[in-house]
Amino acid sequence: MTTPTVQMPKITYIDQDGGSRVVEAPIGDSVMECAVDNDVDGIVAACGGNCSCSTCHVYIDDAWVKAVGPRHEEEEFTLEYGIDVRPTSRLSCQIEVTNELDGLVVHLPAEQAE
Ligand code: FES
Repeated sequence: MTTPTVQMPKITYIDQDGGSRVVEAPIGDSVMECAVDNDVDGIVAACGGNCSCSTCHVYIDDAWVKAVGPRHEEEEFTLEYGIDVRPTSRLSCQIEVTNELDGLVVHLPAEQAE
């Protein structure tokens, strides 16, 4: 069964205080780019998406962990520099927006690495 095409997937970013922002996410952009383009607080993205800074760290909502998939090796290495890294941690620059991720929920960490 194929997933029906969604015009513009939506991503929800939830901050530490429970506040949330829902943004429309162009397919092919990264979850980090969608946050930066929409001025979502808490995503620094110092390296511009090159998987080398860990300042785009997010926690994938439990309901979405399987759909998003696992970290790759380089991401694993870079996340060692992240703060309060958990099993659901991902670098948002390494997650590409697809139709299948329409409705994705990510949680923002209390702080990003410097
Ligand atoms: Fe630097 Fe994602 S933006 S690791």
